[in-house]
Amino acid sequence: MTREQAYEILQKYMKGQRYLEHSYAVEAIMRGVAEKLAPDQVEYWGIVGLLHDLDEEHCEWKEHPETHGPKSVEILKSEGIDDPILFDAICSHNPQSGVKAKTNLQYAILASDPMSGFLKAIAQIYPDKKIASVKHKSVTKRFRELRFAAGANRDYMEAIEFTGMNFDEFIDIALASMCAIADKIGL
Ligand SMILES: [Fe+2]
Repeated sequence: MTREQAYEILQKYMKGQRYLEHSYAVEAIMRGVAEKLAPDQVEYWGIVGLLHDLDEEHCEWKEHPETHGPKSVEILKSEGIDDPILFDAICSHNPQSGVKAKTNLQYAILASDPMSGFLKAIAQIYPDKKIASVKHKSVTKRFRELRFAAGANRDYMEAIEFTGMNFDEFIDIALASMCAIADKIGL
């Protein structure tokens, strides 16, 4: 699948601007991480980020959290996509789907998803609400304040270390990746 194809499928099934911006942010972080961990798969890792929440508006994740992920697979199959690596990576970002992260790609999506929301939450406490205002130091400080952005799972974010990437490096990559597309993600 090309990035263009993935983008078209995303536009077809995801309408909420907030969800779209989240998808673009996670795509950017995944690309940034791939540049370090899998430089020949930057586009592919980005596609995993772009599509990881594809079913957000179609599954019943509140009542049936285990459907978040598998429903995306169902949608992709209906679009003629057959890519088990992509499917498992998408499901692994929600361990409740039954797919537990084991590969670098899977740890990266598990970690990048909450990291994007966490950095956005920090940006929003600044007067200008810009991601460019967020400093590495405030990220590590807020990370330890468990009540801040409590929905951003700290364990999942730290799972990046299973890939061999240092957590501080991950923060810098995520910040730089989101800064580079700040206008596209409303930050
Ligand atoms: Fe997500």
